[in-house]
Amino acid sequence: MSMINFRFCAPTRYIFGVDAQLGVGEAIASLGKRRVLLHYGGQSAQKSGLLGEVTGKLKEAGLDVVELGGVQPNPRDTLIDEGIAICRERDVDFILAVGGGSVIDSAKAIAIGVPYEGDFWDFYTGQAAPSAALPVGVVLTLPATGSEGSSRSVVTKEEGLLKRRCASDLIRPAIAWLNPTLTYTLPPYQTACGATDILSHVIERYFTPTEGVSLTDRLCEAVMLDVIQNAPIALAQPTDYDARANLMWAGTLAHNDVVGLGRMGDWGSHSIEHELSALYDVAHGAGLAVILPAWMRYQLDCDVMRFAQFAVRVWGCEMDFRNPKRTAIEGIDRMEAWFRSIGMPTTFAEIGAKEEDIPLLASKVDMDDAKGLGFFRPLSRKDIEAVYRLACNRDRDVC
Ligand code: NZQ
Ligand code: ZN
Repeated sequence: MSMINFRFCAPTRYIFGVDAQLGVGEAIASLGKRRVLLHYGGQSAQKSGLLGEVTGKLKEAGLDVVELGGVQPNPRDTLIDEGIAICRERDVDFILAVGGGSVIDSAKAIAIGVPYEGDFWDFYTGQAAPSAALPVGVVLTLPATGSEGSSRSVVTKEEGLLKRRCASDLIRPAIAWLNPTLTYTLPPYQTACGATDILSHVIERYFTPTEGVSLTDRLCEAVMLDVIQNAPIALAQPTDYDARANLMWAGTLAHNDVVGLGRMGDWGSHSIEHELSALYDVAHGAGLAVILPAWMRYQLDCDVMRFAQFAVRVWGCEMDFRNPKRTAIEGIDRMEAWFRSIGMPTTFAEIGAKEEDIPLLASKVDMDDAKGLGFFRPLSRKDIEAVYRLACNRDRDVC
């Protein structure tokens, strides 16, 4: 299969750099908006003074501000329902998310929920597709999910702890303000989780059954190499502007689809991970560091040469022409070692996941059983259990 035909529309206006967020009020007012829902998470944006600064700029521009904070990591449906009710009651016409992926995804869910008569959760179960949305803006504080430019939103339903995603171009943010200095306050763990998530968004696209996609292969490799270089710098020196700036833009590029156009992505690891973060409430990036090496070891034989290319071009392994599989395995080993070097867990036990939960985890994964999970080599539920078991036992004999 050669490069797939595609259409691409990424309408987000990106405003990047130091003090970028100071223009929020003016920009939103210039869209003709009057009342903004200011949506945020726990304490971080309040403590840093960002929230006060943004509120001031919105008011200076003559906008009414309605606040809704309290978004928790792995955002919940209950707060979204509250946000939808508030927006309707107060006639809100713009939603501004100040935070990371959880706040942005919650804002996106509210945006499609407001004009919809049914339950917004229908969009996350595939029972309905959004046909209208309030515009969303983002002041990004955590480079990770790429939600500031992506067409996705991921939400957890309290009842049954189901984590599901919705995809629609309607929820691509209208404007994203990206100021790398806002990420200086990130704890090391969140910086590392973010870098892992960025890398994973490229990896999901890199492992493809599509052939003849050399340009996007190279774009993917550039983003991965840069994240691998800059994440340790940001961890060692949290106020290194260049490292923070490159990580921030890498996060956007990794998931606004630019590096994945014309090729089939896999996305199996994300679905397998989502059940971990739903059940154990671990950070998405940490769950990915556990799942990705296991998924790769399980899928290795499907296309050894692609794994060898990944090993050589991204991890600097020397190609063993007599035994490409050895090179491929070395690449996975180096990736796993890199995750550990930046403080990420790589085993089930480290994130509090339990072997006895594996059948439950596999049964909850959101997939069409007839088609299987992912596109690189579709996985059955039995395969998914095997991936979880690999992550649990790190039993390398499977390779
Ligand atoms: O809540 P506050 O106090 O703000 O603290 C947050 C939160 O505890 C903190 N934080 C954020 N910016 C900070 C900061 N702390 C200090 N300084 C700052 N500048 O970081 C913690 C984690 O925040 P969260 O938003 O949960 O992290 P992330 O951006 O990694 O988002 C994760 C969520 O996004 C989903 C994940 O599944 C998960 O639910 N994803 C969304 C995607 C999308 N919409 O396209 C794609 C991804 O693959 C992912 O699934
Ligand atoms: Zn992700």
